[in-house]
Amino acid sequence: MAMTNAETGRRPRIAQVGAIALGTPDIDESLRFFRDLLGMEEVRRDGSASYLRGYQELKHHSLVLFESDEPIVDSYCLRTERPEHVEQFADILREQGVEVLELAPGHQAGRGAAIRFLHPHSRHPFEIYYDIEAPEAPDGIRSLLPSNSSKRRGLGVRRIDHINLATAVEQVGDAELWLRETLGFRRRESMSHDGTLLSSWLAVTPQVHDIAIGAGVNNEEAQLHHVAFNLENQSDVLVAADTLRDHGVAINAGPGKHGISQGMFLYVRDPGSGHCVEIFAGGYLIFDPDWKSIDWDMEAVLSHGLSWYGDPLDTPEGSALSVTTPSSGLQSRLGSLARG
Ligand SMILES: [Fe+2]
Repeated sequence: MAMTNAETGRRPRIAQVGAIALGTPDIDESLRFFRDLLGMEEVRRDGSASYLRGYQELKHHSLVLFESDEPIVDSYCLRTERPEHVEQFADILREQGVEVLELAPGHQAGRGAAIRFLHPHSRHPFEIYYDIEAPEAPDGIRSLLPSNSSKRRGLGVRRIDHINLATAVEQVGDAELWLRETLGFRRRESMSHDGTLLSSWLAVTPQVHDIAIGAGVNNEEAQLHHVAFNLENQSDVLVAADTLRDHGVAINAGPGKHGISQGMFLYVRDPGSGHCVEIFAGGYLIFDPDWKSIDWDMEAVLSHGLSWYGDPLDTPEGSALSVTTPSSGLQSRLGSLARG
């Protein structure tokens, strides 16, 4: 449903992509990757789930790992600008006929009440929340800098950067429009072919993308293409490639630089789960309030859009990078904690 600017001004708003919850068949190996190699802090272990954050994240977590028979995404978690926006989004979703579950505080450790629903077009499971704790790190790893939760460790993941969703090609147009019109993401760059939207990079922050959605090579709905974590410097991506290769982590693509977003990339797979993880640094920022989306044709994207230099990425024929992982349905795998 299209909205006027006046209506948009009164609408609830998403502030950031806050977290992702990943099911892993080998949580010990996943922890070796995210905690020991990438250097994320394990803030809390809660039964079969582990909650982690980067050293520059003050809130409780941006990554949940939980034991699962198969690699699966339980939820893509978005944080609102204000507490009341959570229920306002619930009202809007219900008006659209979207089934909404109310999640009790603690459904994810450290987090307040949340809502959960499936994207009405792509079927990705989203959770929207506002309240989340900001625990201090333990003495041994706490940073002297108050803007850092902990000392930089490992490869120095400082925060979650973005999520990249894949779905069936015929869903991309409607799914992307819904992210813009209902959740308020703004299109920054996009790729179309013969008038069909194939990929879009969108943000609610000055980043080029907090979220991307595109057609998956396998043409299945509700897939994770990759989740990206941010390092401070472009040269850190080279160190990550060097170190991860020496620790037996297979490199899918990179290091290289994107044309779209201009970020440095390195794609690997979590050895415990197979989920695709991008190590990301740099990129340009957008402060222009009437930014016009940069719309690429496929020829330019394949020439220098996806990969400005480095390995070619995601060709139409597919590549190691094209392997996606599925998402949960409406019911969360993190336990039957739905309220009401
Ligand atoms: Fe990415």
